[in-house]
Amino acid sequence: MDLTWSFFSPLIIVVIILSKIATRGRTSATNKKKGAKFSSPPPPPVASGAPLVGVVPSLLTNGPEAFIRGCYETMGSVFTVSLLQHKVTFLVGPEESRHFYKGLDSEISQDEVSQFTVPTFGPGVAFDVDYATRHEQIRFFGDIMKPAKLRTYVDLMVAEVEMFGEVSTLLHDINDGMRLVTIMFPRLPIPAHRRRDRARARLGEIFSDIVRSRRSSGAGACHGDMLQCLIDATYKDGRATTETEVAGMLVAALFAGQHTSSSTSTWTGASLLTHPKHLRAAVEEQARILRRHGDRVDYAVLAEMDTLQRCVKETLRLHPPALMLMRHARQSFVVNGRDGDGGKREYEVPKGHTVASPLLLHNTMPHVYHDPSKFDPERFGARREEGGGLAYASFGSGRHACVGEAFAYMQIKVIWSHLLRNFELQLESPFPETDWNVVMPGPKGKVMVSYNRRKLAATTTTV
Ligand code: HEM
Repeated sequence: MDLTWSFFSPLIIVVIILSKIATRGRTSATNKKKGAKFSSPPPPPVASGAPLVGVVPSLLTNGPEAFIRGCYETMGSVFTVSLLQHKVTFLVGPEESRHFYKGLDSEISQDEVSQFTVPTFGPGVAFDVDYATRHEQIRFFGDIMKPAKLRTYVDLMVAEVEMFGEVSTLLHDINDGMRLVTIMFPRLPIPAHRRRDRARARLGEIFSDIVRSRRSSGAGACHGDMLQCLIDATYKDGRATTETEVAGMLVAALFAGQHTSSSTSTWTGASLLTHPKHLRAAVEEQARILRRHGDRVDYAVLAEMDTLQRCVKETLRLHPPALMLMRHARQSFVVNGRDGDGGKREYEVPKGHTVASPLLLHNTMPHVYHDPSKFDPERFGARREEGGGLAYASFGSGRHACVGEAFAYMQIKVIWSHLLRNFELQLESPFPETDWNVVMPGPKGKVMVSYNRRKLAATTTTV
């Protein structure tokens, strides 16, 4: 069992005794009793747990993913879990999550539930600032990710398929310091948080030094990279970004983009290497593109890699890099869902609840996806087109959809087109399990491959 959880379970159990865990039976009975007076729908059913200890043993024994799945199977697509003083309402499925993804921030917001990221991203950025400032900072990223800019990054990506050593280690500590327990106690003095804080301080120094030196040398124009775009960005009132903000935005961008993309690249490899039919299709596509364009890999060439794109998309459907997305209900709202027996039901999610969209469950709804747990990239092909609209949530959706989606696909396709062209790979370790103990779950343990250089590509760069 994870040490953090063992350390916390007594504390959680004590607090949970003090908090009210309503049982499913009690909830339904209460609803029935009050039924005659209700002008609005009843609240969602509440996860039952053992007397006194509530849901904690089940959560600890099964892990968060299996626990949430178990609740969904018994209670239906809208349900509440009572945890400590928090009420977390899960919405599973595209229809159920409409308000979650499309509602106004004044009604369903990220602020209250995202404070745990402040020690990671640092001062002056993301959830340490008000909504208007954060919105502008996201706009900076939006501008950096426009197709005209993306075109210019491919050369840099091709040249930099390996991450700068120290930064990569520091980012590992940053991600490892974002545990499930961090959501409730972001500054608790546990070793993982101490490593996170040291790594954050060091990253701040590295990035601030670069910003300072670029600003003082005035050599901005010769750096066509994202960092320079952030240094040059200005707020609507004309204010320039500060050193601290640029460093914080870079950490946030690397957290949002580097770990997610690197774990997606690993999952993509493990999925392809265990599905020979799809691996063959991806390799044949590379051979076709090589014949047409030679070794050149640029924005337009990457856009032709449809098969690889579908493989990555399918990988992300089954291995979304976030366990769940969260919001805070600033106002109550009504949801159309299904109860535990599959019947249609309306529920009113009360004001004050934390609201969660569990991504893996969301992405594997059997009424949306045929044989949903199967790795089947062809489901996204022109003939089937499964999972449109809100049914695919690995990059979020609606109001806060990921601004880095196109960039992430480009980056992962650059990596995998290089590997498929230059190596014949074999997975030596078993297909990885998921590490559910961190907020951004990735493959657990080492994923080992053996390789032979292949003749498919003319390029001979060693990875
Ligand atoms: C495989 C790679 C990636 C995945 C799976 C991913 C996933 C997500 C998800 C699920 C959200 C929605 C969060 C929510 O609704 O609470 C999001 C938002 C965001 N992502 Fe990504 N992301 C990836 C790569 C990137 C990259 C490369 C960047 C570039 C810096 C980026 C920047 C952002 C930003 C700024 C937001 C916030 C958008 C907003 O709140 O309006 N992401 N991402």
